[in-house]
Amino acid sequence: MATKKTSKSTKKSGTKASPDAEVGTEQEAGAGASEPASEGASSDGEVLRQPAEVAHADQLEALRQNESDTAPASWWLSPRSVLTYIVGGKTLTATIRGKQTEVEITRKFFGDDTVVERAIVTLASERALLLVGEPGTGKSWLSEHLAAAICGNSCLTIQGTAGTTEEHIKYSWNVARVIAEGYTLANLVPSPTMNAMRSGALLRFEEITRCVPDVQDALVSVLSDKAIAVPELPSSPLIWAKPGFNVIATANSRDQGVNELSAALKRRFNYVHIPIIGDQRTEQSVVRQRTSELMQRYGLQAKVAPPVLDLLTTVFRELRQGKSKEGIGLKQPGTTMSTAEAIGCALDAALHARYFGDGTVRPADIARNLTGSVVKEDLGDLASLREYATLVGKKRGAKDPVWKELCDALEVALRQ
Ligand SMILES: Nc1ncnc2c1ncn2[C@@H]1O[C@H](COP(=O)(O)OP(=O)(O)O)[C@@H](O)[C@H]1O
Ligand SMILES: [Mg+2]
Repeated sequence: MATKKTSKSTKKSGTKASPDAEVGTEQEAGAGASEPASEGASSDGEVLRQPAEVAHADQLEALRQNESDTAPASWWLSPRSVLTYIVGGKTLTATIRGKQTEVEITRKFFGDDTVVERAIVTLASERALLLVGEPGTGKSWLSEHLAAAICGNSCLTIQGTAGTTEEHIKYSWNVARVIAEGYTLANLVPSPTMNAMRSGALLRFEEITRCVPDVQDALVSVLSDKAIAVPELPSSPLIWAKPGFNVIATANSRDQGVNELSAALKRRFNYVHIPIIGDQRTEQSVVRQRTSELMQRYGLQAKVAPPVLDLLTTVFRELRQGKSKEGIGLKQPGTTMSTAEAIGCALDAALHARYFGDGTVRPADIARNLTGSVVKEDLGDLASLREYATLVGKKRGAKDPVWKELCDALEVALRQ
């Protein structure tokens, strides 16, 4: 008989489950860590975006073949190799698809490497990991790469929202089959959590503080008992987690206070704060690398000169800090001027230059997209941008043609 619980449970809203979590059979529920979970992502590049373990399969394989340290139970790589995968390292020689190949280990996450070390150590411990920081600081990005390197599957993910329910975190039922056959293990629809537990993999819980506290608390038993009880089944079995299971959650520090973590849950997480990139050069490297990767993904033939991207990064940094390099105080906009937003702005500028220009990104293309990045919900932020153009841009424009072009275009964009 379908209970209230089962009737709700068919909906999967708020859960970005891996394909194996979407189907309700026991066999499929067991799949997970050993295979990349995104259907079709591995084959012919026909998806818009591949999960990290597919996109960087060669690098992961090269690190595995060159492994010199021991990995914790169920981990694919040793903590040292996971760190190298994330922060980059020297080129390795490995046999890839039967051929000896030189594989460059690229840097994925830019910033303080000790932050990444602490995150890795936490995942090898009893405690779960909570990455906290401003929006756009690369929390989800780091979480995806950590999961890819540690268990080869970054797709066991729950997206926390106000609508996330306990069933999304634990399990639900295939209602039609429960009506026909009753409660059996085969009729249980596992959540990404249960799939991660069964395969000793990592669960990624995005934006955990968006979930209401009662729902968050469903995780307490998962983290403390490392098991999920299924009282609907005759023997009330417990589904136990295999070694290697752990949780990487992310939380937005701007959301804090919306649904703070309960004390019980806080105790089970190690908090790792992800700062906004402090160093200008590092931020420039992120913007350059990610913009070029995204342009490749879109097959975009536009040309973006590094000075133009650096100009964009400078505008973002100065507005974020409320101060120019020369020490002029500036009105900070209400929007988070994150690195991620700068990357988005650069990509939009490249698209604009490619489709409506001659394919070369100019300061004017940046200016056009800046207004959309800076002014989101608060029209008052237009004043910040206008002030920036007048106080900072004009002065620089007197000496530097790149700044002059940016300012002239900003003036036009701000008039519209
Ligand atoms: N420190 C960083 N290193 C590498 N990429 C970063 C960094 N910060 C932001 N990014 C880029 O910004 C984009 C968005 O980051 P995301 O992980 O979604 O942010 P968050 O989850 O913190 O809101 C990603 O594509 C990522 O490449
Ligand atoms: Mg995120």
